[in-house]
Amino acid sequence: MAESMKGLHRSHRCTEVSDAEIGKKVTVMGWVQKRRNLGSLIFIDLRDRSGILQIVFDENVIGAEGFEKAGELRSEYVIAAEGTVQKRAAAVNEHLKTGGIEVIAESLRILSESQTPPFQIEENSQTKDEVRLKYRYLDLRRPDIQRNLMLRSRVLQIMRNFMAEEGFLEIETPILCKSTPEGARDYLVPSRVHPGNFYALPQSPQLFKQLLMASGYDRYFQIARCFRDEDLRADRQPEFTQADMELSFVDIDDVLEINERLLQCVFRETIGVEIPLPLPRMSWQEAMDRYGSDKPDTRFGMELVDVSETVQNCGFGVFTGALQNGGSVRGINVAGQGAMPRKKIDKLVEFAKGCGAKGLAYLAVNEDGTCKSSFAKFMTEDELNALLQKMNAKPGDLLLFAADKNKIVWNVLGALRLQLAEELELYDKNRYDFLWITEFPLLEWSDEENRFMAMHHPFTMPMEEDWDKIDTDPGAVRAKAYDIVLNGTELGGGSVRIHQDDIQEKMFEVLGFTKERAHEQFGFLLDAFSYGVPPHAGLAYGVDRLIMHLVHADSIRDVIAFPKVKDASDLMSAAPGEVEEKQLEELGIRIVKADGGQN
Ligand code: AMO
Ligand code: AMP
Repeated sequence: MAESMKGLHRSHRCTEVSDAEIGKKVTVMGWVQKRRNLGSLIFIDLRDRSGILQIVFDENVIGAEGFEKAGELRSEYVIAAEGTVQKRAAAVNEHLKTGGIEVIAESLRILSESQTPPFQIEENSQTKDEVRLKYRYLDLRRPDIQRNLMLRSRVLQIMRNFMAEEGFLEIETPILCKSTPEGARDYLVPSRVHPGNFYALPQSPQLFKQLLMASGYDRYFQIARCFRDEDLRADRQPEFTQADMELSFVDIDDVLEINERLLQCVFRETIGVEIPLPLPRMSWQEAMDRYGSDKPDTRFGMELVDVSETVQNCGFGVFTGALQNGGSVRGINVAGQGAMPRKKIDKLVEFAKGCGAKGLAYLAVNEDGTCKSSFAKFMTEDELNALLQKMNAKPGDLLLFAADKNKIVWNVLGALRLQLAEELELYDKNRYDFLWITEFPLLEWSDEENRFMAMHHPFTMPMEEDWDKIDTDPGAVRAKAYDIVLNGTELGGGSVRIHQDDIQEKMFEVLGFTKERAHEQFGFLLDAFSYGVPPHAGLAYGVDRLIMHLVHADSIRDVIAFPKVKDASDLMSAAPGEVEEKQLEELGIRIVKADGGQN
């Protein structure tokens, strides 16, 4: 039977007990990890979120009744034990923080019993994800997840402290709001009071934080929950957390400078890694040209080489055809992989096709200088030599080429580069390579919409030196936008915002908004800006992604207490779920079944 806490006070968490307590009395509480019986001694591994402590029940100390009770303990029972700390006589456990001590119990209370759990509470569990997520409350007991969430808590605390020190105010913005122009699909919430009307859950606090700048709050910060109805991936969740900020009277450098110090502080105080400042910066164009990605992993080389000029007059139609269509031919040199078996190369070709390539041309330089290639036969020796030289190819290297529109070539080679680096283990997993990507294009052409779209959002400031091209060559205008990239993932991003009417109006015009539509969607922001708005800029981090990097988690789920799975459902609570007919009625909602019937 479960006993009460009456008169008991926990004196230490398990691993807070140390050599300093030897000979002293302690009261510890937690979960039974393991029980071992050794005749007149029973050993318990007691677990709480700090770790494990050994409790010894000696019949001569605790008495017959207490000893019998200890014999009833099973995994995951919650107990309290009082006793005296002593140095372990034998079996010192080097792997445990408390491996040199133990508590000789003088009393025991069983605070609650437990059924046999569906899986063992242990580090690096091999239990299937679905089972662990269904019993997430048990999964959350595992030490690796507990460590992740404790570190997460610390990161948030460090960020809050840092931002407060720098004069930022923490201000909450609404969860029920109008949709923001961030681009993903909204989660909608029906209004009971206004039948047929919906709130949108915020994709980010973007508009509100800009309004706060217009209202004079100067420096805003928020740990903000954001909602985006998009396809889930290993580093995406439908609801996630941003560390969101906005600053007035600043330009790019001010924002980057403060964020570099913030990152330095977080890495130093959580994992003891010293990030050298200032962080490197790279323009979007350079990132695409060198890495085929706007979030390059710079921990390894294998950079893209543009060979368009070298092959422009060669005899290989795939190459020259792509160039004639306004595309490019680029390659990567997979150093030392010239002997890669044909089967493996074929797999790379399939991978490239999966990324949108029509094919992947390869050339392996044999150790004797001869070549094995899918296209060498279409080239003269001189053309081939020029290509090898341009690619800096040495005997034993493997060259891979893609020929297509730039966007496809970048995408294909960028992805191949990452794939190969992972397979060939080309980088140090413990390295932290930060990089600012700057000078993003302001606009991106959408074939689907047949118009330019904002690459970031419609309030992003164009670069002054490009603004004269907005009518003649809008695609060439760069933005005052920036992303912070860590080891090939986008940790965060932001921009300087437009605060001038004329530039904003022009932006809407280029994006194909009529004045009326712009006002319909963003009227309150535009109105607010007509009453005096300071120049402002901001940035938001994906907190979950930041924690993933700090703890080397493979999945975003390992750093979120109650995450959702791929189809955006919660396996534990079974959300989303159907609701009662009465609730729907109140909301004026009728469900149309897939077969056209109604409920
Ligand atoms: P952005 O859309 O780039 O910018 O988002 C900022 C950061 O949030 C993280 N993130 C996500 N993390 C987990 N799951 C998701 N589904 C997800 N989507 C985004 C990323 C990303 O870099 N309002 C602007 C910021 C600004 O301009 O100030 C914004 O939301 O790490
Ligand atoms: P094909 O002439 O179509 O047999 O192609 C000859 C070689 O070129 C094969 O190895 C193809 O995989 C490769 N290839 C085809 N299209 C492309 C492309 N767009 N870029 C690079 N290589 C290609």
